[in-house]
Amino acid sequence: MRNKVVLAYSGGLDTSVLVRILTDEYGYDVIACHADVGEAKDHEKLREKARKAGAIATEVVDAKEEFATQFCFPALQANALYQGVYPLSAALSRPLIAKHLVAAARKHGATAVAHGATGKGNDQVRFDLAVKGMAPELKILAPQRERNITRDAAMEYAAKHGIEVPTTKKSIFSIDENLWGRSIEGGVLEDVSTEPPEAAFAWTRSIEDAPSTPAYLKIGFECGLPVTVNGEKLSPAKLIAKVGEIAGLHGVGRIDLMEDRVVGIKSRETYECPASVALICAHQELERFTIMGDALRVKSQLDQRFAQLTYEGFWFSPLRLALQAFNDSLAQTVTGEVTLKLFKGSMRVVGRTSPHGLYNHALSTYGVEDRFDHRAAEGFIHLLGLQLQEFSRQHGGIS
Ligand code: ARG
Repeated sequence: MRNKVVLAYSGGLDTSVLVRILTDEYGYDVIACHADVGEAKDHEKLREKARKAGAIATEVVDAKEEFATQFCFPALQANALYQGVYPLSAALSRPLIAKHLVAAARKHGATAVAHGATGKGNDQVRFDLAVKGMAPELKILAPQRERNITRDAAMEYAAKHGIEVPTTKKSIFSIDENLWGRSIEGGVLEDVSTEPPEAAFAWTRSIEDAPSTPAYLKIGFECGLPVTVNGEKLSPAKLIAKVGEIAGLHGVGRIDLMEDRVVGIKSRETYECPASVALICAHQELERFTIMGDALRVKSQLDQRFAQLTYEGFWFSPLRLALQAFNDSLAQTVTGEVTLKLFKGSMRVVGRTSPHGLYNHALSTYGVEDRFDHRAAEGFIHLLGLQLQEFSRQHGGIS
């Protein structure tokens, strides 16, 4: 009897060819597994394609709500931006896909999982580490990495084995998309000195084409998680989609980043992440409003670690779970609404309300209602500066 492998299947030419390669050259029975994280693919067509390519079974899962609640929202609680800029859209989907590979492997009694990531990207790291974190007993196969299959070789293989080759001319870009964002790579984008052409973008308007009147986006949070958009209560996946639609229309969320990959390569990455960029902006503001300053300072350092470990594939790790617990604990007060103003690619916070807001007008005002004890500051500064004053006295002043 042949061993079974579960392959992360996208329905494209490359993973279709992998079904055959794993069958013919690796000697496995292949189960194609597709977790839909919001790319709007026809599930029936996917099954049909996988069967034609030679898969003995196919698992297609609608994972949009799961992706939103268990991956996007934890990243949102951490305000996760890799290198301070990238909301980690592709990085977050890999551990979810791996989770479904592992589940399918257990269901079908497979001894291995496989993916189509190359040897020079981040995705291979994320797939491999996620599988190691969840199911250390499973073998991981990555034919693309092992054999460096070129596009021409894949086309040839497809023609020889009767695998459907896309008739539409392949996009000049390499695209990866899900609810949290869309990444665009390759083609002219590899010329790092040149502005990305409009053809690269699908979810965001250019500054020129964005409406010439501003829009307000009011996001309501409960314990750190977004629940309403402009007063409307929505499920997590629908909420993310709605925020993305509005922010994208106003040209918010385009990113052009010189990024450091895990494997040490610098690459120019172009993204459009209207939903995640807007949600993180609003969430972070509500944290600033409701969380004590010292906790915020610690959190901002840990948030950076959260982003980095997500980028590097350590989603299913004790550190991520511990940081998650920290974030959950502080999120208890992060309830309220934040209003963003969007206009031609710009986004600003213009208001916030919360039952737990720590802003006290009587303390902060310069007006007549001032209740702050100004004299208390004298003693405070006296003690704060005491060691400095003593040092300075001893050494005749610092210059
Ligand atoms: N640079 C991004 C990341 O590492 C995007 C990766 C997109 N993946 C892809 N196979 N096109 O998260």
